Amino acid sequence: MRSVIDIKDLSIKEIEEIIAVAEDIIANPQKYAHKCDGKKLATLFFEPSTRTRLSFEAAMYELGGNVLSVSDANTSSASKGESVSDTAKVVSCYADIIAMRHPKEGAPLVAATNASIPVINAGDGGHNHPTQTLADLLTIHREKGHFDNLTVGFCGDLKFGRTVHSLISALSRYSGIKFVLISPDELKLPGYVKTNLSEMGIEFVETKDLVEVMPDLDILYMTRVQGERFFNEEDYLRLKDSYILTPEKLTTAKYDLCILHPLPRVNEISVAVDDDPRACYFKQVLNGKYMRMSLILKLLEVD
Ligand code: NCD
Repeated sequence: MRSVIDIKDLSIKEIEEIIAVAEDIIANPQKYAHKCDGKKLATLFFEPSTRTRLSFEAAMYELGGNVLSVSDANTSSASKGESVSDTAKVVSCYADIIAMRHPKEGAPLVAATNASIPVINAGDGGHNHPTQTLADLLTIHREKGHFDNLTVGFCGDLKFGRTVHSLISALSRYSGIKFVLISPDELKLPGYVKTNLSEMGIEFVETKDLVEVMPDLDILYMTRVQGERFFNEEDYLRLKDSYILTPEKLTTAKYDLCILHPLPRVNEISVAVDDDPRACYFKQVLNGKYMRMSLILKLLEVD
């Protein structure tokens, strides 16, 4: 029984296989329409979410399976004080696989340790978000055809942005990768992530200036400032509009730049950028559903 809590729970070879199955699902959806007949996915979301929960649920329905859902911590037994480990044991009696989002870092790991069914981390606090990374990887693969030798810019909230941490971890395993980390001082990448990069000998630079580095980038990953993880409203209001991507700022960008954003977007990307062929963030949403389908098949060991 396998769980996916961290993107590195999947080897490079397994990620290639998950991408290959996702591509086959895209090409032949009918072939997969009954693969999970009779199976149940429990989505346990103890933190607000629209796309990730619906993406998991759409993925399971498109595989012919069913879904049990907790979409609000206030209406679940967690509000009565139930522990994550007890919730995991109880839900193991009802479902075949769990997708869990939780505001506390490490909660999905606790669930996986106590569940008797696979657990997928659907985002834990400001820590990790491995299935968003799968969506990001399929999008990069479809746009670029490879992961090696890319210069990848991350812009915005690199401190609390869990999607950033997971994607950096995933891309660190490929050769010739360079990271350009664009953020205000207060929202820099956490020290532990930078230490990992240094230990692996991966090149990275930190800057506050998006426009200056724009011509170097193959991928630009914009992020929302994670207001819900701030300790005070004043800091959030001061930092929330630090970067706003506009068509003007893209004039010096490569013609084949790939612009990503895990969404939801607040102000980070002007809607005027949406018509630019380099804007890939809505494709990324759809790719997320296919990668979640592929991951569910893998963890349920369905051929
Ligand atoms: C991200 C998340 O929840 O971390 N959203 C998502 O899952 N697509 C990014 C965000 O909320 O800013």
